[in-house]
Amino acid sequence: MADFTQVVSTRRIIVTVGSGGVGKTTTAAAIAVHAARSGRRALVMTIDPAKRLANSLGLATLDNAPQEVPREALALGGDLATVKGTLHAMMLDQKAAFDEVVAQHAANPEQIKRILANPIYQQISSSLAGSQEYAAMAKLYAVDKQARFDLIVVDTPPTANALDFLEAPEKITDAVDSPAIAWFMRTGGKGLGLGASFVLKRLAKFTGSGFLDDVSKFFTEFQSVLAAFKERARNVHALMRDPKVGFVLVTSPEPMAMDEALMFHDKLQAAQMPTVAFVINRVYPTPGTAPARERAVAALAARPELAGMTAYDLTHAAGELELARVDAAARAEVDAVSIARLAERTGGRGLYLKVPFFRTDVHDVEALAQISARLFAG
Ligand SMILES: Nc1ncnc2c1ncn2[C@@H]1O[C@H](COP(=O)(O)OP(=O)(O)OP(=O)(O)O)[C@@H](O)[C@H]1O
Ligand SMILES: [Mg+2]
Repeated sequence: MADFTQVVSTRRIIVTVGSGGVGKTTTAAAIAVHAARSGRRALVMTIDPAKRLANSLGLATLDNAPQEVPREALALGGDLATVKGTLHAMMLDQKAAFDEVVAQHAANPEQIKRILANPIYQQISSSLAGSQEYAAMAKLYAVDKQARFDLIVVDTPPTANALDFLEAPEKITDAVDSPAIAWFMRTGGKGLGLGASFVLKRLAKFTGSGFLDDVSKFFTEFQSVLAAFKERARNVHALMRDPKVGFVLVTSPEPMAMDEALMFHDKLQAAQMPTVAFVINRVYPTPGTAPARERAVAALAARPELAGMTAYDLTHAAGELELARVDAAARAEVDAVSIARLAERTGGRGLYLKVPFFRTDVHDVEALAQISARLFAG
């Protein structure tokens, strides 16, 4: 079976998916950093700010254009020879990505200006459900086309419904393409039934008399751009099913997260988007075997900060440590069972990569290297 190094080296796009807070952003960054160190031109596209991560990559601000992460920021132990490739990072700006599609497909510069300035367009591009996701996928498609990078790692936002994110392009074009809107575009809203025109007039009262005008102008202008939006959605749909794309499903070992991961996995499979690896993040490691009580006491007695403790206190402390170890062993056992269940439910032939629970937050490059080491260990 291929290991994770092979899986990543044979893909151009890796998408990290999973439920909220499991470690998608961290995993995406760890994969991209590793790829850059091993000689690839990598790009990590993140959705959520992940400010501290951005800071530690030496990026003051992330914007809609890829920014190069300084080599010094990636070098392990300050050794530039540990970085053979390059890393760029970008944070998606949904509005900007939406505007870009308009700019590429409008008939002329005046039309671009008119559409971008239209209040209805501004509403739709920034607050329509799924527009952020649409923008992310559209941007991915555009960046992939440029061929500037040989690995693009895409981070996804937590979504209530597993595939909302990846299917947003189709959903949003369906919404914009609904019969009601098609009718509106044909007629400009003329001939509305009494009830509807009353509602629109009331709306206009609240939103200013230009509202109806904005709506009809928007739909007329947008008609030409709509075709481009739809085509982009079709292209993204195809891209997500291209063999050069792999999905990395991130989960924690907790039973509830595992259930969600299984749901994700089933939906990805049904949509013909292959899970190339599972990352089980924040796994409790199995503690080593406990030393004999006398040795544990002696080890505690040797610690300078415990100097002055009585023999009784030291014995008591050693007892507490033993209990903590039993606790940790139980938690590790629960995790192992949970991971075994995941493997069993998903055919057992996938890659199940375990990343331990680190004591500190993972937000610097050294910590990411710790994670890469687990993911890419031979
Ligand atoms: N193995 C780990 N050990 C300890 N802390 C971790 C580990 N992995 C991730 N973290 C920390 O957990 C937090 C959440 O991680 P991350 O932001 O990667 O999750 P996410 O899935 O992207 O979350 P969201 O769904 O909100 O986007 C971060 O503060 C990160 O530093
Ligand atoms: Mg995240």
